[in-house]
Amino acid sequence: MTSKNYYITTPIYYVNDAPHIGHAYTTLACDVLARFKRLDGYNVRFLTGTDEHGQKVEKSAKLAGLEPQAFTDKVSQNFRDLLETVNFSEDDFIRTTEPRHIRAAQALWNELLSRGDIYLGKYAGWYAVRDEAFYNESELVNGKAPTGADVEWVEEPSYFFKLSAWQERLLKFYEENPDFIAPEARRNEVISFVKGGLTDLSVSRTSFTWGVPIPNEPNHIMYVWLDALTNYITAIGYPDTSAADYKKFWPADLHMVGKDIIRFHCVYWPAFLLAAGIAPPKRVFAHGWWTNEGQKISKSLGNVIDPVALVGKYGLDAVRYFLLREVPFGQDGDFSHDAVVRRMNAELANDFGNLVQRVIAFIHKNAGGQVPSPAAFQAVDVDLRGASYGLIDKMRELLDQQMFHKFLEAVNSVVVEANQYIDQQAPWTLKKTDTERMHTVLYILCEAIRNAALVMQPFIPESAAKILDILNVPQNQRSLNFVGESGALKPSSPLNPAVPVFPKFMDAAA
Ligand code: MSP
Repeated sequence: MTSKNYYITTPIYYVNDAPHIGHAYTTLACDVLARFKRLDGYNVRFLTGTDEHGQKVEKSAKLAGLEPQAFTDKVSQNFRDLLETVNFSEDDFIRTTEPRHIRAAQALWNELLSRGDIYLGKYAGWYAVRDEAFYNESELVNGKAPTGADVEWVEEPSYFFKLSAWQERLLKFYEENPDFIAPEARRNEVISFVKGGLTDLSVSRTSFTWGVPIPNEPNHIMYVWLDALTNYITAIGYPDTSAADYKKFWPADLHMVGKDIIRFHCVYWPAFLLAAGIAPPKRVFAHGWWTNEGQKISKSLGNVIDPVALVGKYGLDAVRYFLLREVPFGQDGDFSHDAVVRRMNAELANDFGNLVQRVIAFIHKNAGGQVPSPAAFQAVDVDLRGASYGLIDKMRELLDQQMFHKFLEAVNSVVVEANQYIDQQAPWTLKKTDTERMHTVLYILCEAIRNAALVMQPFIPESAAKILDILNVPQNQRSLNFVGESGALKPSSPLNPAVPVFPKFMDAAA
């Protein structure tokens, strides 16, 4: 049993909405990292789930004519169904309405209260239900939240968390943990927000009831963000800090979030945790937002992208590949039909798919349908083999920084190099002039394909498995320590026939 542990979380999704591309994107990024770490020998805990309390969900339930619990049961299931469709590999799915979570949230509350970080007062200020966030007067832009959400004036008795007392300690924490917030631009944004001064945070509400009850305070429910953030520790056993999972997985290695919820994860959450004597997570990565054919995605514009429909249209692996390849992770990106088709037809079908097809079909026709036996290597062979073996170092370095696009670019350049190599070496000519050399060239190509497929498993699991099946790579030789020499194909072992791996997308004739 390995002692390397890796704990990764998605935000928990509000159940006021059907799952859309934004949710699928965040979860996909986590899924790829979870698969990568599992293949690299880690014990992985990959958590996702639904955020079910608060005013926003209560309002949506009312609109749907359902009790909040019945409503959340229904919508939460849609999120679970999405996980299946998109082939996500989560280990746990948490709902904030579960008893384990309510218990954890109340325990954290008691901890903060007993340490003197929570006091009773009265809130008078602005609140945006859409963001479930409080805003200062000075933050409003034309009478709305800086996010564009409508705000309402709220005046009610409320408990406060002494956030103002944490300003200096948070700044010190960011300084001592330079990798805590990524990318760099977000880190700067958070630091300047904190430097601008922190006010105490209202952490209980009295004007509605759909939330975690505050212990011994029948009129108060917990502010939904304090409740929701706690899910990350609930799922590993909090408040039982001696639980095996808690000891193994906390502090979390990575909270993946969208850029819109960075303040909650990088300011409030570490402050709550530090105040409760709990170590903050190791890292929060904030990714960008997708637009659709250049337009902001919104229900009112009717251009929400349904991940299930996408998968139906382009295929699962093509969608997975596109989302992480197209846009530098961390930046905003535009979703367009043409861009998906370009990526899937060029890089998957033409580059990778053709490489597999050409090499395997050629071997079946001209080299007995088995792994060819190589003779002495030339410099070009060593170069291509070295490039494919080197992918594992790139993978560890780039994926640990969540630079998915850079890694996929690196894999694609090895595939392109392999296609150039086959053109230059021309095994079809060698067949007539030098079969020994032909076998060496084909061997190097099989190795390039094997290594590229191994490292692509987290991104395109079904297609990578098909390629590894064609090469007849045993199941127990598909982890990442078989990238390179240690997993090298054995000459003369049988290969399976090539099957189509990456379908090309054909637009219906206009
Ligand atoms: N419930 C909170 C999170 C609580 S975590 C303790 C929440 N939920 S959400 O359902 O509104 O959003 C979840 C994620 O979806 C966020 O990370 C958000 O950035 C992401 N996206 C929503 N729309 C998006 C796009 N158009 N593009 C990319 N991601 C977007 O916030």
